[in-house]
Amino acid sequence: MISLHNKRLLLGVSGSIAAYKAAEVVRRFKDAGAEVRVVLTAGGAEFVTPLTFQALSGNPVHSELLDTEAEAAMGHIQLARWADAVIIAPASANCIARLAQGRADDLLSAICLATEAPVAIAPAMNQQMWVKPSTQDNLRQLTQHGVLQFGPAVGEQACGETGPGRMLEAGQIAQCTADMFETGVLAGRSVLITAGPTQEAIDPVRYLSNHSSGKMGYAVAQAAAEAGARVTLISGPTALPIPPRVNRIDVSSAQQMYEAVMQQINDNDIFIAAAAVADYRPAREARQKIKKSKDILTLELQPNPDILAEVAALTDAPICVGFAAETENLERHAREKLQRKKLDMIAANAVGEGRGFGTDDNSLLVLTLDSMQTLSRASKSSLGRQLVRMIAELFDRKRSSAH
Ligand code: PMT
Repeated sequence: MISLHNKRLLLGVSGSIAAYKAAEVVRRFKDAGAEVRVVLTAGGAEFVTPLTFQALSGNPVHSELLDTEAEAAMGHIQLARWADAVIIAPASANCIARLAQGRADDLLSAICLATEAPVAIAPAMNQQMWVKPSTQDNLRQLTQHGVLQFGPAVGEQACGETGPGRMLEAGQIAQCTADMFETGVLAGRSVLITAGPTQEAIDPVRYLSNHSSGKMGYAVAQAAAEAGARVTLISGPTALPIPPRVNRIDVSSAQQMYEAVMQQINDNDIFIAAAAVADYRPAREARQKIKKSKDILTLELQPNPDILAEVAALTDAPICVGFAAETENLERHAREKLQRKKLDMIAANAVGEGRGFGTDDNSLLVLTLDSMQTLSRASKSSLGRQLVRMIAELFDRKRSSAH
């Protein structure tokens, strides 16, 4: 089954008779779990109406580059940042030429220029247009610039001719899109990840916790699974579905998370601690609901185990990657945690005032003992994939220096 779980896909539809098949592409993307936004070029709109794509995607269709309303809501830069991938299906000969030239005078080409997300094209054109040296030159250039190409197929064409240039079918495009995310960089590795908040019971009805939604840790878990790893996710209470091919173990308190991690840690190559673990818990959990009174109530707190530090201190510890949630002095505090907990890598994020906790987007400052890299604001799933790539590189480096 094709999975595009949680992916934000921007579908560009340019002017070709195959534009009618793009409606089915939207359906396939949605069925596979993606959120879809459609950008329709002027040529594409000659073949299919925006209403069709709006009804199928459940989102407004974007067409204008310089529309004050659109720019205020979701302009080209926001769309470029929003997307986990840009798929152009159909990509006409004209659209391909424009992308190869790096044009930015319509919405779709401007997005392709502005995005950091991978871009793929599913060409669709008459076979004579396909074989023309100018088209082939443009395609070569796009490939050199990292643009992926899905198809085309060889077969009967709308113009009555037979040959190369037919757009792939919707199911094939959805499969190629899902394959884009399957990087394989952690193939054969085992990864243990913590995510979400912990809840520290005060009495049978109350607890201490924090604002973590689990989104960041789940995105990392999904990216690791897509990278080919065997992934175990130890999760505090969240409302999120289990990412495909991830084995989830549910816990509630920091102590339970600690015990689950220690039970699972053997045989894991990599440990990634994205959970917001409570540093303290009530020293005693009241057996009955604490009654209200006019007196000041004092809670005595005792420290929880530091799960990450304990894993990093194990003999034969796996590669240990921590997160640091900071409201000030991001780099300084993160570096201090990296060194104190003896980690291989730490991903620091600013939290508070609508940042970090609960949001769909984030940005990370990733530190090792000898490097520092900023991952600029993007969806948590995109950041998860970037982080997993960095972790895989670190793993390979450490392994080759050990041999
Ligand atoms: O879940 P979201 O809503 O998507 O929000 C994401 C996030 C902000 C929770 C996430 O990106 C993040 O920063 N997670 C770590 C939060 C945190 O607890 O940071 P810390 O600086 O307090 O802890 C440092 C590291 O030690 C973390 O890797 C933490 O998992 C680990 N830790 C902390 C305390 C403890 N007792 N045991 C631990 O393992």
